[in-house]
Amino acid sequence: MPSIPHGGKLISRYDPSSLEQVKKLKKIELSQSDLSELECIGTGAYSPLEGFMNQSDYDSVLKQMRLKDGTIWPLPINLSVSQEVSNELSAGVRVALSFEGETYGFIDVEEIYKVNLGNEAQLFYGTGDSNHPGVEKLLSRSPFYVGGPVTIIKRIPSSFPTHTLTPEETRDRFRLNGWETIVGFQTRNPVHRAHEYIQKVALEQVDGLFLHPLVGETKPDDVPAHVRMKCYQTLLNNYYPSDRSILGVFLGAMRYAGPKEALFHAIVRKNYGCTHFIVGRDHAGVGDYYGTYDSQNIFNQFSAKELGIVPLKFDHSFYCKKCEQMASSKTCPHTNKDHIHLSGTKVRQMLKQGLLPPKHFSRPEVVKLLLEYYRKQKD
Ligand code: ADX
Repeated sequence: MPSIPHGGKLISRYDPSSLEQVKKLKKIELSQSDLSELECIGTGAYSPLEGFMNQSDYDSVLKQMRLKDGTIWPLPINLSVSQEVSNELSAGVRVALSFEGETYGFIDVEEIYKVNLGNEAQLFYGTGDSNHPGVEKLLSRSPFYVGGPVTIIKRIPSSFPTHTLTPEETRDRFRLNGWETIVGFQTRNPVHRAHEYIQKVALEQVDGLFLHPLVGETKPDDVPAHVRMKCYQTLLNNYYPSDRSILGVFLGAMRYAGPKEALFHAIVRKNYGCTHFIVGRDHAGVGDYYGTYDSQNIFNQFSAKELGIVPLKFDHSFYCKKCEQMASSKTCPHTNKDHIHLSGTKVRQMLKQGLLPPKHFSRPEVVKLLLEYYRKQKD
């Protein structure tokens, strides 16, 4: 049975019948990330949210990782507009939400409020350092936020149509497959051996794997989604049981907020129907801003009932030359020098120089696709 959605009910804010009506409305031009958020709210991926946050939810989320009604929610979801646009808005007005001239939905404005972005960075990211990619992006926004429920009238065109499944669709698929337990896997990287290892260890215990890479905005040096999708597909076709794995895409943007984002990632996958969620080392982390296992420990602050999804926590995993297998710091008695593990930065450096990461780090099929991408980049 897929999990119960966060907050008790799957939100749907999709109403194509309003298409005509919105033509007469004033418009707010969205960024690509805002558009993804709109879609995530509208399809219920962000249940119980029904729109962009008003100030009381925003404050409560930053201070307590809960919505004002007490539901766990660690991440602010806001629509930021310029001061000029904010001056033209008022509570009670309906405004169309557009991207590149196309209208995808509307917001019923309830509040327009000004925030302190430096304060948001401190409370949410735990740092105001603009070298942090999430902080940098946040500080570049306008501090004028618009809150209120949204409705989508048109689904956004997807670069991965067969894998763009709504929470309702994934829940149907899980039921159709007869899966009682489903583990979700978030990633923003090509899947390497350690990812595969922890996914398969998890799959030993549950009925199905929902491989759910994030394909929204990432840092410029992360491997783009279209390349990663080819890698995931290749791996699934060759090394995963087709009746026990499904590939979807998560349209949200990466925040690199470590623990709070790990909790958010789990809640979103709960909405897609997952009963379990993998949290490995430094989930959603960047640089040294968060401790290696902070993203696992944050789950200890909440009861299993409140979470409604089971975090499957994995220690740092690697290939061990002495054990001659994949292992983790929990299962291997040998030292670092026997372990094959490469950082993301190291792998990127190697690939840019045309060097092959060892096959015990990444499967050759994946390496081939990545090399092609980096080679094209050079040309
Ligand atoms: S993330 O930003 O999406 O978390 P990434 O794609 O690297 O980054 O990780 C996906 C998941 O795999 C996360 O849960 C992460 O903690 C986990 N993970 C990545 N590498 C390892 C590893 N070597 N050992 C254990 N877990 C890992």
